[in-house]
Amino acid sequence: MNLDSMLDLLLVEDDDIDREHVRRLLQTDYQVNEVATGKAALDFVTQKRPACVLLDYRLPDIGGMDLLSQLVEQSIPVIILTGEESAEVIVEAMQRGALHYLVKGNISYVSLLHAINSALEKNNLKQNIEIKNKQLAALASELTLAEQRERRRISQILHDHVQQILYGIQMRVHIMGLDGSEQPKLAMHLAEVEKLLGQATHVIRTLTVELSPPLLQSEGLGAAFQWLAKHMAETQNLQVYCEIEGDYQAPSVDLGVFIFQIVRELLFNVVKHAGVRQAWIQLVAKEDTLEVTVSDHGMGFDVTRLAKRGDSRGGFGLYSISERLALFGGRLEIDSAPGLGTRVKIVVLRQIPIHLLPLDGN
Ligand SMILES: Nc1ncnc2c1ncn2[C@@H]1O[C@H](COP(=O)(O)OP(=O)(O)OP(=O)(O)O)[C@@H](O)[C@H]1O
Ligand SMILES: [Mg+2]
Repeated sequence: MNLDSMLDLLLVEDDDIDREHVRRLLQTDYQVNEVATGKAALDFVTQKRPACVLLDYRLPDIGGMDLLSQLVEQSIPVIILTGEESAEVIVEAMQRGALHYLVKGNISYVSLLHAINSALEKNNLKQNIEIKNKQLAALASELTLAEQRERRRISQILHDHVQQILYGIQMRVHIMGLDGSEQPKLAMHLAEVEKLLGQATHVIRTLTVELSPPLLQSEGLGAAFQWLAKHMAETQNLQVYCEIEGDYQAPSVDLGVFIFQIVRELLFNVVKHAGVRQAWIQLVAKEDTLEVTVSDHGMGFDVTRLAKRGDSRGGFGLYSISERLALFGGRLEIDSAPGLGTRVKIVVLRQIPIHLLPLDGN
């Protein structure tokens, strides 16, 4: 076989006889590179990437398991060679990412070829899964941001078009009412229509802001939270106190809307579950992170039960928030216990890591 077309293997083995044995079995099918120490193995892989490493777990310099971990970290497929059939060594090696194992006394041409083929195949599958996972994470973060963009678009249409049209009709009806005042029934109907239009305008104005608060774009998160506090007092009878250090722009408008929606959802949790009528929003900007905490002095809950319960018995809110935050490198910290109130902290990075940015970046 042409040497250039043969796959490179690296055989890491300090025993000359064992090394010779494996090399002889494989040399017609593979380009077998041999080293006798862990250090030489690490040097080799920095120069040249072998298709697969056959690794004796007992080496004179570096522990075989440590070397295994370092190779696995670089996504190099490793087959572990053990001296005697020790179940513990094999289990540990497989847990650390070895893709196959061979017991030295039983090594044959067939068992070697089988181990190498199977390791290469598993490694391919592993890499495909890693690529798919990255694509899924990018897609999921893009979907979350797309949702925020869509909210902004709907909010804009409601505000710029529907609300203005309703307002125009309301004015016209008002004038007709004034003109037709000598016909009492008509004037009464028009007054009623005018009232209904007023209500519709109010509902649309509120929905517009809830979907995507315009304040967020012009004045930042702090101002949007102040608006939300007032809104919760008016609509839910929940007194919300804002503690805001300065006024911060979110890392992006889309993320700002996302944080706003989360805080709104957490305040609804207070209304639904805490049994109190007061809550606090705290916004703190650290050097690398933005932290928003929503807290209450209500009845609290057992956070461990929440983790165990998952999403099987309703209660998708906190789970979904935490999963979606993770897509942007953020996290949710829940601190609560029965009778001791609840504090939920959102932590987001002020700079979103590039690999988490959505694909089209708009
Ligand atoms: N502020 C709070 N005070 C007391 N209990 C809370 C509070 N927030 C959440 N909980 C508890 O945690 C559970 C999970 O909250 P989560 O927001 O995930 O779900 P939910 O509010 O029940 O339903 P969903 O948000 O899907 O409408 C709640 O059912 C409640 O028992
Ligand atoms: Mg909820």
